[in-house]
This record gives sequence, C-alpha cells and structure tokens, in this order.
Amino acid sequence: MAATPGNADFGKAINPDAELYLTLLENSDVGIVTIDQDKTIRFWNSWMEKASGHMTAHVLGKTMNDVFGDAMPSRLHSAIRDCLSLGMPAMISPSLNKSVLPLRPLPQFAEKFPQMQQSIRIQPVRISDGNLLCSITVRDVTLAVQRDQLLRRQAAELAELVTKTRRSEDRTRAILQNTIDAILVASEDGILEPLNARAQELCGPQGDPEIKNIIQFLLPDSGNNPPPKPPSDRLLTDLGTGVIEILACPANGHNIPLEVAISHFTAYGRYHYIITLRDISQRKRHELEIQNTMQELENSNAELEQFAYAASHDLQEPLRMVSSYTQLLARRYREKLDDTADEFIHYAVDGTQRMQRMIDDLLTLSRVGRHGKPFQPVALTGLFDAIEANLKRADSAPAGNIMRAPDLPVVVGDPSQLLQLFQNLVSNGLKYSDPAHAEVRISAREFESFWRISVSDNGIGIDPQYHASIFEIFKRLHGYGEYAGTGIGLALCKKIVERHGGNIHVESAPHEGSTFHVDLPKEHSVL
Ligand SMILES: Nc1ncnc2c1ncn2[C@@H]1O[C@H](COP(=O)(O)OP(=O)(O)O)[C@@H](O)[C@H]1O
Ligand SMILES: [Mg+2]
Repeated sequence: MAATPGNADFGKAINPDAELYLTLLENSDVGIVTIDQDKTIRFWNSWMEKASGHMTAHVLGKTMNDVFGDAMPSRLHSAIRDCLSLGMPAMISPSLNKSVLPLRPLPQFAEKFPQMQQSIRIQPVRISDGNLLCSITVRDVTLAVQRDQLLRRQAAELAELVTKTRRSEDRTRAILQNTIDAILVASEDGILEPLNARAQELCGPQGDPEIKNIIQFLLPDSGNNPPPKPPSDRLLTDLGTGVIEILACPANGHNIPLEVAISHFTAYGRYHYIITLRDISQRKRHELEIQNTMQELENSNAELEQFAYAASHDLQEPLRMVSSYTQLLARRYREKLDDTADEFIHYAVDGTQRMQRMIDDLLTLSRVGRHGKPFQPVALTGLFDAIEANLKRADSAPAGNIMRAPDLPVVVGDPSQLLQLFQNLVSNGLKYSDPAHAEVRISAREFESFWRISVSDNGIGIDPQYHASIFEIFKRLHGYGEYAGTGIGLALCKKIVERHGGNIHVESAPHEGSTFHVDLPKEHSVL
C-alpha cells in the first residue's frame, strides 16, 4: 500500500527504509500522530483519518488545536507542550481523564458511546538531527470500558444482593433467637446443632446432659446405629401416637416436660432434620389440675351416692316401723276415737307412705351410677310396649292415650334405665294433663351422631323460667294435693341420660303442652 504523499515525504527524510516502516505505521490498528517541534502535525496515519474524519493531506502542517478547535482537550494540549519542551511522556486514559479527542466509535458501540473511549500515550522521540518530536498513540479502549462498566454494574448488583441476603439472614437469626421454642438441626449423620439461645440453654453445659441422646434416639433414621434407649421416665408419651413428650432434666433447675416435633428438609443434596422442643410445663400443670379436680369430683360424687344410698337404705327400717304401727293404729282405732283422731291417723299414714315413695325414688336415683348395666342395643318399640303394659298394670297410674310413631329406632343403652327414663316422661305427660283428654305422643328423629326421642303431651305446660330447674332433685311446681309425686322423676331422667352421654331438655309454655327431647348418641366411647 502506498503511503499518503505527505507522510511519505516525512518518512523518506528520516530513513531510507521509510516506505516499509510507513506502510506498517499506516496500517497499524492504533492511531499514530507525530507532532513537530513547532507543534504542527508531521504524521497522521489512516487509522486517525477514519476515526477523526480528518484527512492526512488536510491536517499536515496544522496544529492539533487547528484540527480539533474547541474540541481539543486541554490536557492533551499541555501534554504535547511539556513533551516538546521538557521531553516529558504522558498518559491520558478514560479512567484518569474525562475529556479525550472527538473520535468516532466503531459502529457496534455507537449506540452506547457517542465518542470512542481512548487511551492516549504521549511519548517524546528524539530524531537524528537532535530535534525532539512528540509521538501520540491513540488506542481504542471502548470495548474494555464497556466491559469495565458491565463488571462494575455486576459488582454493584452483587454487593446489593449480599447486603440483602445478610439482612434477611440477620432477620432469620433474630427470629430464631427470639423463638421461645428450642430449635436444633441434625444432619444425616445425626450430629445435632442448636440453632437458637433456648436450644443452647437446653443442650449446653448448663442444660440436660442426656437430651442430645434422647433426641438422637427419636430421630427416624437412628436405625442402623441406634443410640441407647433413654430411661422410660424421660419419655413421657407413647412413641406410637406421633406426639412425643420427653422430660428434660437440666443441670441447674427444675425438670421441664417438652414436646418434640421433628420435620425434615434437604439442603445441598443432603438430608437434615429440624427438631423443635416446646416447653409444655404450663399445659402439663393444667392437665394435672384438671385431673385432680376430676378425681375430687368423682370422689365427692361417689361419696354423695354412697351417702344417699346409705341414708335412704337405713331410713327404710325405722320408717317401716312407723308405717306399720300407724297403719295398725288406723285399722284398729278407726271410728273408735273421735273424728279429729281419725284425721290425724290418716295424715300420719299418708305421710309415711309418701316418705316411703321418696326413699324408694332416692334409692333408685343413687343406683343409676353405681348399679348401671352394660350398654346393649335396645329396640324402642319393645321398650314402649313394656312401658304401656306397666302403666296399665299399676292401679295408681294416670290414664290417657299413648301414640307412637311407627318407626322407632333401636338405640344403645342400659335397657332397664332407658325404661325408667321413658316411663317417667310418659307418666309425667299423662299426669300433668286433663285426664279426660290426656294424650302422649312418642316420636324419633335421626341426627348425624345421635337419635332424638321426643315425648310430647297436650297437658298444662311449663313456664319457660322453670325449664332448667324441674330437672333438679325434689323440684316440683305443684303441691302434693294437686298432683302426687316426689320431685325425683326428672332428676332421675337427667342422670340416666347423662350416664348415656346424652342430653335432655324441654320445650313448653303454659297450657300449650310439653315436649321432652332426649338425645342419645349413636356411638359410645366409654360404656
Ligand atoms: N309433662 C309435664 N307437664 C307439665 N309439667 C311437668 C311435666 N313433667 C314434669 N313437670 C313439672 O316438673 C316437676 C318435676 O317433675 P318430676 O321430677 O317428674 O317430679 P314429680 O312428677 O314427682 O313431681 C313436676 O312437679 C311438674 O311440676
Ligand atoms: Mg314425675
């Protein structure tokens, strides 16, 4: 390739082999400019032509300021001056200096970079005539700058990510530390690591020296090399239930019942267990309190029943005596004394008979809990047949019409107690009605978990304010003269229904009749 005429002239003047060197310089992939002592341009290669748009023929003999005008960076101007006068080299680069020569970037960078990013080297060159020239080498570093920018951006993003991760890690750690439960993690090989303060407390030197063994024993994978089974008093609940309760015995302090939850997760291709230990002291305390109260209640109930039974049983004997002697008096002296004496004797006989009934009823009531028979299927149709037969047989039974739904179910219970229950309700229904029109209806309705057996009458009804109290023992809404009775019937009904795990309640209003609903569960867990 032939050198431009201007450059060639300059070349030949320096060296006879100039043509070769010039061709090399011309085709170099960096910009090369040589400045003369008088600051005018002496050499300008074709790279510079392309990048600046200024042709060699036009720039030779001019100064850089002439060529670039206002766009000439002042730093380059002073560097050329210092190079020519003092022989000082210089470097102008995008990282050190903002302004560079107005050169065109390569098309692929044009969008992002309005100017080519350059690294300019200013070098003094002494030639054979002793003159000092200034050699300027311009390198296109746009690609490097672009890479640098990308790297910086990625570094910034990375830094942000690290900050964020650290922040979320801090948060996770804070949550872990402030959790009341102790949290530990175990790797596949069973090594336990406490994750928070509570876990440190329990498993650390002040904690329970045995606890790690116990936890390792509970881990599902402890199969191959199982740790020794802890003493049974350290495992509180049956392992088969899924809920595991253990007892921690810390070196310094009270024993703590703990509930253990074990879950697993995979991290970095390995299996890990998360173990949560929850202090259940308070729950255990409550459970114990409830148990104690239940026991006390059971004891006092049993005592009461015992007392009622003993009292009514022992009362029978003297009462029988009074009863037989007053009846004897009545038979022997009726109409032999005066009218008042007859009346007194009548009251005495009547009183003892009532007392006899009350004691019988009390005895029955006290036997509900103690002498109950095992539950069995009871067909209600047969049961009500028996009730009707009983009522017919008894001479003092109230009269009336008993109507039954055709589809009465088979329920589960104690047959003789169910008979007492429904006989009481039926005879109440007849008793508290107008004897001429008394009507009692029996029906059943199926619910998901229980049967509702209802006994309705068309009698005098009950004021809602007494709907609860009529089930109390001895509670009666009428005088004995009005309707005979001991006031124990509904209390007995309630006790029987409760023994069957059911409910009894009444729907009624004065003069509107009454309906007693008995709900009996279909399934019985405790018989
Ligand atoms: N079917 C009913 N209709 C109206 N009142 C009733 C009915 N059943 C019960 N009672 C009221 O409830 C009270 C308590 O009943 P109960 O315990 O059977 O005692 P008793 O029948 O011996 O009086 C009765 O005295 C009565 O006032
Ligand atoms: Mg009654």
